[in-house]
Amino acid sequence: MRMKNKYRKPTTLRCNAGTRCSFPVMVWSLVGCLLMLHLYSLVCRKHGVGGEIQMRKDHHHPLFHELEEVEEEDIRIPPPKGKRSPRAAKRRPKRPTTLIEEFLDESSQLRHVFFPDEKTAIHPMKDATNESFYYYPGRIWLDTDGNPIQAHGGGILYDEKSRKYYWYGEFKDGPTYHAHKKAAARVDIIGVGCYSSKDLWTWKHEGIVLVAEETDETHDLHKSNVLERPKVIYNEKTGKYVMWMHVDDANYTKASVGIAVSDSPTGPFDYLYSKRPHGFDSRDMTIFKDDDGVAYLIYSSEDNSELHVGPLNPDYLDVTRVMRTILVGQHREAPAVFKYQGTYYMITSGCTGWAPNEALAHASESILGPWETMGNPCIGGNKVFRQTTFFAQSTFVLPLPGLPGSFIFMADRWNPADLRDSRYVWLPLTVGGAADRPLDYNFGFPLWSRVSIYWHKRWRLPYTWKEKNQ
Ligand SMILES: *[C@@H]1O[C@H](CO)[C@@H](O)[C@H](O)[C@H]1NC(C)=O
Ligand SMILES: *[C@@H]1O[C@H](CO)[C@@H](O)[C@H](O)[C@H]1NC(C)=O
Repeated sequence: MRMKNKYRKPTTLRCNAGTRCSFPVMVWSLVGCLLMLHLYSLVCRKHGVGGEIQMRKDHHHPLFHELEEVEEEDIRIPPPKGKRSPRAAKRRPKRPTTLIEEFLDESSQLRHVFFPDEKTAIHPMKDATNESFYYYPGRIWLDTDGNPIQAHGGGILYDEKSRKYYWYGEFKDGPTYHAHKKAAARVDIIGVGCYSSKDLWTWKHEGIVLVAEETDETHDLHKSNVLERPKVIYNEKTGKYVMWMHVDDANYTKASVGIAVSDSPTGPFDYLYSKRPHGFDSRDMTIFKDDDGVAYLIYSSEDNSELHVGPLNPDYLDVTRVMRTILVGQHREAPAVFKYQGTYYMITSGCTGWAPNEALAHASESILGPWETMGNPCIGGNKVFRQTTFFAQSTFVLPLPGLPGSFIFMADRWNPADLRDSRYVWLPLTVGGAADRPLDYNFGFPLWSRVSIYWHKRWRLPYTWKEKNQ
């Protein structure tokens, strides 16, 4: 029921037919409003553009600009194999296979596109010409002895003492097989491969720094088990190099982290123990050492439906009781964490086994969250390239000293038919510009800078970076 309010102030703009109605006031109010709106939009736009230019200045090193050019790929799916009868041709045409199906098909005519053969291998000793220092994502990459680098699911440590980079990863140079009918393709544990480099291109094999257990079947690292995604950080307080990894049984039911330690970046690492961190299942994982020396474990949990993050003890040999649940219900794995100008960023993949899927970038003010999902960071290639992280899966993001805002995105192009022949996809990653997906907690305003990973068939780091770092 509508009550008449006798105390209501009469408004000047009440405009009933035949009553006092000030038309000029109305018009001028309207004009005023429009002017205000126009001014507001002008200010907004100027602010936006100015903001972006400033961001670019702050966030992108000019030496990196040429790597931010968008490079397209045009890959045609070949016509279907085999003869088709004229009768079949009359029927509805067969749905063309997708590029992802071609990628997973061992006998695909496009095999050489995804897995170029050894003739095109990157050979740092032989290619000391004008091909030097070029990365060719997906090509076989040889070490200084001429053997394919075996450091899958890897990560890189920069060692201040030796002033070298150390690349650790799964050494998978063994036969691929299935433990039973329903099991995923696997290679027995051989150990963690280690490679050293000053220029991030010429890698010397430093050996297998954590080796599998051959005989004791009860050992976590018995060859029949699983060792994935080893990552190493240095502890200033103890002077030890600490390795964390995903340790599992062949059926992925153990879902634990393993910890190993060494006095030297080139090992040998002593395996300490495994555990379910905070009492939870833990599969794909990474560790991140913050500027203040506090390190964190980030792992997929609750059957990969969410991620957990928590600080390590001061000696980095265990987690603490602090743990936060992040990206709940988002089903992400393969986390790669990095930090820029006080903001934490993370790249993750979806959970589709060895098959590639879409990467997502996430950002947070605090490593413990809340984390926000910003969208797919991949730029260039073609649509399928972008939807499959360039047919690869994230494993690590390496900051480039001297090039603030510039990183190397490291990913694995898994070859489930022959896992040892999985390839590395390294690409330039930059932070800057506006995010392109409306976010959950900020009413659609982009709070975070965009994370961009640029596809390149062939690229290299700026010259001056190398000179400074050699
Ligand atoms: C090296 O550079 C020269 C001149 O730019 C070019 O002709 C030659 O093909 C290059 N060699 C390789 C191996 O790319
Ligand atoms: C893995 O699962 C298969 C089939 O369910 C079973 O036969 C096998 O014993 C299991 N292996 C391990 C190591 O648990």
